[in-house]
Parts: sequence; structure tokens; C-alpha cells
Amino acid sequence: MKACTRVGLLLLAATLHIRAEAGTGVETCAACHGDQGQGNAVLGAPRLAGQQVDYLLQQLRAFKAGQRGYDPQDSQGVQMRAVVASLDEADFNRLAHHYAQQQAAKVSASKSAGTAHGESLYQGSCAACHGLQAEGFAHLKTPSLRILDASYLDRQLTHYTDGTRGSDAHADPLGIWMRGIALQIRSAEDRRAIIDYLASLSLPAAEQARR
Ligand code: HEC
Ligand code: HEC
Repeated sequence: MKACTRVGLLLLAATLHIRAEAGTGVETCAACHGDQGQGNAVLGAPRLAGQQVDYLLQQLRAFKAGQRGYDPQDSQGVQMRAVVASLDEADFNRLAHHYAQQQAAKVSASKSAGTAHGESLYQGSCAACHGLQAEGFAHLKTPSLRILDASYLDRQLTHYTDGTRGSDAHADPLGIWMRGIALQIRSAEDRRAIIDYLASLSLPAAEQARR
């Protein structure tokens, strides 16, 4: 990301931080995550609509506790950490439920073609925790991966492997756990194949799986 864009985003986060103190409505979040929680790939803000409620709650707590967004190199995580600084548990509950229940907006990301290799890697190493349809599980606090765009997925896996997310020194047990798994993905090609497979899963089927 260009330096000027980054500064602009930090200023935006700071402004929103002040607004947040006057009571946070979803409009604060909509500035980056979209008015339907659909996400904004240009800003690096992931889709929240239809995400697992327990996972959303867990992440908001993790940002607040500095267990995510702790590394200055992680500009997106740092921004998100600033946003939640003045929010409390009641806000987190309200916001997490709001987004988890939000109907899926149209997916803007183009669908990619998954390969049999990507599918077998995903089903063999990820599905046990993220679900056969990558829908996530409440009891494991795992996210739905099928709603996320490829660039966000790629960045999170990079952050886990380089310790920007999930490091022993900062993260909670769930982040540390996922880091260990990300480190086991053997090659960049395997990672790409898994991401392509996730992007190939169609959203309407995911919506049905949750009903
Ligand atoms: C200034 C832009 C900005 C604002 C405002 C913002 N976010 Fe974010 N949010 C981001 C970015 C960028 C990320 C990705 C962080 C990363 O890469 O680790 C993110 C990540 C998240 C995540 C993690 C999702 C996941 O799949 O792990 C949650 C949850 C979240 N935001 C909730 C909210 C809520 C709720 C609000 C409103 C109170 C909000 N955000 C406001 C930019 C923003
Ligand atoms: C043992 C259980 C487990 C397995 C297996 C597992 N994950 Fe995860 N995954 C988790 C948990 C728990 C989290 C939430 C971690 C956190 O709080 O940072 C997570 C988070 C993620 C995230 C972050 C999503 C977001 O919204 O920010 C990605 C991406 C991810 N996993 C991809 C994968 C991939 C790809 C595989 C297979 C190679 C995989 N996971 C296998 C448990 C698992």
C-alpha cells in the first residue's frame, strides 16, 4: 500500500476512534467494512456479514487485548485495534450479533476455478476445524473462510507464518494454534491452491448450510 494511502487510513481510523467514544453504531464500521458488512478489498477490510458470531466476538476481544494487531508492520491490524480501543464488551456483543445475522450482500469478488489438488489439501488439513463447506464452527470459534476474499485470506496466512498474527509472545491459544497450522502448509503453490478452492465455493450454498 502506498504511504499516503496508509496515512489517510490511519487518520480515518483516528477520526472514527473519536466518534466511537460517543457510542458506536455500525456506521463506524461501515466506513471500512461496507454498509452491508460486505467488506472492502481495497482497504483490506474483510467481509463480516454472515461470519460466525463467536469468532467475531473473539477477534474484537483479541484486537482490544493486543493479541491481534500488535505488530507495527501490520497496518491493517493496527488500524482495527485503534477502532476497538474505546469499545466495551456490550458493544462487541451487539456488533458481533449484528454482523453474524446480516444477510449476505452480493459477492463482488470474481469466482476462481478450484482444482482437485486444492480441494484435497483443504479437506485433508483444514476441514476438520473450518467445516466441509468452510463454513466455520461455533464451538471451535473458527471462522467461515468461504465468505472471505482471496487477498484477505492470503494476507492472514502470511501474517500467521511470519508471526505478525498468532505469535507465542502476543496471541491467545487459538491464534497460536492456527499459526502452527499455517506453518505446515508446504509451499506457496499449495497455499494458492487452497485459497483458489475456497474462492470457488459458491456463497448461496454456504447460506443454505447455515440455515
Ligand atoms: C479504518 C477502517 C476500519 C474500521 C472503521 C473498522 N474496521 Fe474492522 N477491520 C479493518 C481491517 C483493515 C481489518 C483487517 C485486519 C487484519 O488484516 O488483520 C479489519 C478486521 C476486522 C475484524 C476481523 C475479521 C476477521 O475475519 O478476522 C473484525 C471482527 C472487525 N474488523 C470488526 C469491525 C467492527 C465491528 C467495526 C466497527 C466498530 C470495524 N471493524 C471498523 C478495518 C476497519
Ligand atoms: C486445529 C483447528 C484448525 C485447523 C486444522 C485449521 N484452522 Fe484455520 N483457524 C483455526 C482457528 C481457531 C482460527 C482463529 C484463530 C485466531 O483467533 O486467530 C483460525 C483462523 C483461520 C484464518 C483467519 C481467518 C480470518 O477471518 O482472519 C484463516 C485464513 C485460516 N484459519 C485458514 C486455515 C487453512 C487454510 C487451514 C488448512 C491449511 C486451516 N485454517 C486449518 C483453527 C484451525
